[in-house]
Amino acid sequence: MTLPLVIGNWKMNSLVSPACDMARSLAHKLVAVEGVEVVIAPPFTSLYPVGQIIKDSKLSLAGQNCYFENSGAFTGEISLEMLQDVGCGFILIGHSERRSVFGENDALINKKVHQTLKAGLTAVLCVGENLAQRKADETFKVLEMQLSQGLAGLPGLSQIVIAYEPVWAIGTGVNATPQQAVEVHAFIRHYIFEKLGFSEKIRIIYGGSVNPENSKNLLQEKEINGALVGGASLKLESFCAIINSALEP
Ligand code: PGA
Repeated sequence: MTLPLVIGNWKMNSLVSPACDMARSLAHKLVAVEGVEVVIAPPFTSLYPVGQIIKDSKLSLAGQNCYFENSGAFTGEISLEMLQDVGCGFILIGHSERRSVFGENDALINKKVHQTLKAGLTAVLCVGENLAQRKADETFKVLEMQLSQGLAGLPGLSQIVIAYEPVWAIGTGVNATPQQAVEVHAFIRHYIFEKLGFSEKIRIIYGGSVNPENSKNLLQEKEINGALVGGASLKLESFCAIINSALEP
């Protein structure tokens, strides 16, 4: 059985003190929980203290972004070594906000994925179509491009997770239906296995307006191996409810 993965992406929210409180409470809540892997991605300023708090807990830490060079004159960037140093085991790469707000393209994203794997961390590659692309029936075409370029040159047994995040569902309150998500997850799994030579067992998680009301229906689908949660991961109760819905009934 595939261990479900639930990642809380805090984006540019929370100062150090509330981030630490949240991490402490979450670690406490998860003490007796088995059968799900839980990761949090606080802002960079909170990674170190949060990493210290959760280091002996069931929680893991993720960076929301990284740069592909190790060190040097790259003002404002952060290296994999730095992220690893503060306890990150996962890195989100190619989030739609990185693509649309900061202009990241698939070639840059590919370099970040390579460097993340080289550092021994798990890369969470985010992909997804926007509304215009879905309406124009281009969803699969867009995903093929993002996957083939984002994963170019990687060995089939890479430590990666794919996060399918339709852009129209992120932060909008309009989630993909389980049927829509399953259709795309099945497509992604088939494509990366048949065309790109990756394992069929790679976890493909869904993101985009996941909340306690819709998480059960999404996460009980076999094709959906977990969730990447934004807004609803900022509150302990809603994030815990989503984590619970990833557990076997
Ligand atoms: P959302 O964000 O859950 O607030 O829609 C998801 C994400 O951007 O990862």
